[in-house]
Amino acid sequence: MRDYYEQRAAEYDATSYEQLLQDPVGARDLDKLEGLIAARTPGRVLDIGCGSGWLTRAIRGDVVAVDQSQSMLRLAAARLPQGVFIHAMAPPLPFADNTFDTALTSHVYGHIESEADRNEFLGETLRVASELIIVEQARPSDHPGSGWEDRPLRDGSRHRIYKRYYTAAALADEVGGRVLLDTASFVVVARKKSAVEQASRQPNLAALESLRSSISSSSRPSGRGRGNCSNRFFPAPSRTSMERPSGLGSPAVRGQSPEQPRSVAGDRPGRRACGRQRGMS
Ligand SMILES: C[S@@+](CC[C@H](N)C(=O)[O-])C[C@H]1O[C@@H](n2cnc3c(N)ncnc32)[C@H](O)[C@@H]1O
Repeated sequence: MRDYYEQRAAEYDATSYEQLLQDPVGARDLDKLEGLIAARTPGRVLDIGCGSGWLTRAIRGDVVAVDQSQSMLRLAAARLPQGVFIHAMAPPLPFADNTFDTALTSHVYGHIESEADRNEFLGETLRVASELIIVEQARPSDHPGSGWEDRPLRDGSRHRIYKRYYTAAALADEVGGRVLLDTASFVVVARKKSAVEQASRQPNLAALESLRSSISSSSRPSGRGRGNCSNRFFPAPSRTSMERPSGLGSPAVRGQSPEQPRSVAGDRPGRRACGRQRGMS
């Protein structure tokens, strides 16, 4: 999967959202999804598996995004000049407990094959955030629900990718959440941290404050106004440092000492382009 998304990055939008927009139902569902994300994401927001950043743009609050693909992160970083981008494979998430108000993960959870791994993913996201919003592709009525798919890319390579498709009710039931959106294209479920989970984690106020100042300093006007600021891009941490977290290594990152963030410039691309409909993930 790591190679697949790295190689697919350059064609990801054209073979997903841009195709969906060609279909009136898909376009309507995408509008609803983006509206929902905007409405549900004030405050500090973590996007896990942000991909090219198409949906990340809809987040209203301060954005920190992680992805295991450097190429995807570069695309997302170019779209969100005020975002913080971190190269990481989750779990673990390189953040202190309760760092975020909301974690969003879209078209990622459905790629996790084993129940144990899905539970670990859920537990880790709810360790760092108060609420998790999961977006998945809706299960067509004639689809078996899950399986290994043969995915060709434009360069001729072929990849075997595991994928689960959900009805809104099935996803809500599986994660113990509630349905926020149920369309032909997408299902969205929110899972709040339970009182027990909340009680077991003391809020890390120092980490929250550090993150807040990290984000505000990355978006602080540099003499020409907020819109001209660069985003922050944290290169890949070493696997060892990811596996042995040892406190905040930077304002936003736990367990590593990232090199100096690298600015990634880029213009905000147009939102409505052409293509044919295809699966999102
Ligand atoms: C199908 S794409 C979805 C991208 C974006 N969230 C969206 O909905 O358009 C899945 C993305 O998640 C990333 N990803 C998958 N599993 C991941 C993990 N465990 N940790 C970090 N990134 C992951 C992939 O590299 C890829 O960019």
